[in-house]
Amino acid sequence: MAKPPHDPRTDPDVPKGMSIDLLKDLHLLTRDGQLNADARRKLKQIRHLVGLLRPALDDVLARSADPVIVDCGAGKSYLGALLYELVLGPAQKGELVAIEARPELAEQAASRAARFGQDRFQVKTGAIAAAALGKRPSVVTALHACDTATDDALALAIAEKADHVAVVPCCQAEVARQLERSRPADPAIAALFAHPLHRRELGSHLTNVVRGLVLEAHGYKVTVTELVGWEHSAKNELILGKRVNRFDAAARGALRALLATFSIEPALVRDLRARGLDPTAEPERG
Ligand SMILES: C[S@@+](CC[C@H](N)C(=O)[O-])C[C@H]1O[C@@H](n2cnc3c(N)ncnc32)[C@H](O)[C@@H]1O
Repeated sequence: MAKPPHDPRTDPDVPKGMSIDLLKDLHLLTRDGQLNADARRKLKQIRHLVGLLRPALDDVLARSADPVIVDCGAGKSYLGALLYELVLGPAQKGELVAIEARPELAEQAASRAARFGQDRFQVKTGAIAAAALGKRPSVVTALHACDTATDDALALAIAEKADHVAVVPCCQAEVARQLERSRPADPAIAALFAHPLHRRELGSHLTNVVRGLVLEAHGYKVTVTELVGWEHSAKNELILGKRVNRFDAAARGALRALLATFSIEPALVRDLRARGLDPTAEPERG
């Protein structure tokens, strides 16, 4: 007997309430409604991220008449399309702003949003650091934004005092290069990155530790968690921040010690210092 055709609506990886035509347009479903392994992995990641972002989204939807969600390094805007379809659309309020450097991807995302009636979805073409938002973002996201683009997203969130920030960092090479020149006095510290492979791994780890401390230094409560099981993606660390506006002297002290111990100055720290928002600065006295 012939196998009945796969019905994507009954597939547990297809979010309930999601337009099948939109998923096909995003190539997350094939034209005949099938999910290939790649698309299933992508859909799982984004669906899971939307679930993890829910508390932040519910919070800003409850607090604001028109919350702005900014997705940095949006690429094909899978995340934005799903956030709109599953959260902002049903809530009938809020705006989604996708920032993407590659014009062809930005144009595709803008035209898709228009075709699917996502009226409150706009796309800004260009670099995150150069984006003029016009409105304070309530939530800033960056999913696998390459290298220091994650730092640009975090700097944007901090400078604009976004209520929530969520980043899943991508590859990171900058701090590994800085470690090459680092000569720590403590032999135990030096042994941590004597080999190039360890330098790369430690550089990537230190970058994310610095990102968490910088957020804390600027008054965010930080949670670091896994996006999905390691079998699905190697770039799997999710850093969530919720602004609580506390001056965190301990985080600033830890950050100063970490940067000094390893003789590093990652992009996020440089960027914030240039904006007059040095995350290692002590409070002004008097
Ligand atoms: C690996 S893709 C991830 C795309 C998407 N967030 C996803 O998870 O499907 C990273 C995207 O970030 C964009 N990008 C990298 N650096 C950027 C920057 N500084 N400003 C804006 N976009 C950037 C790239 O063009 C690329 O489309």
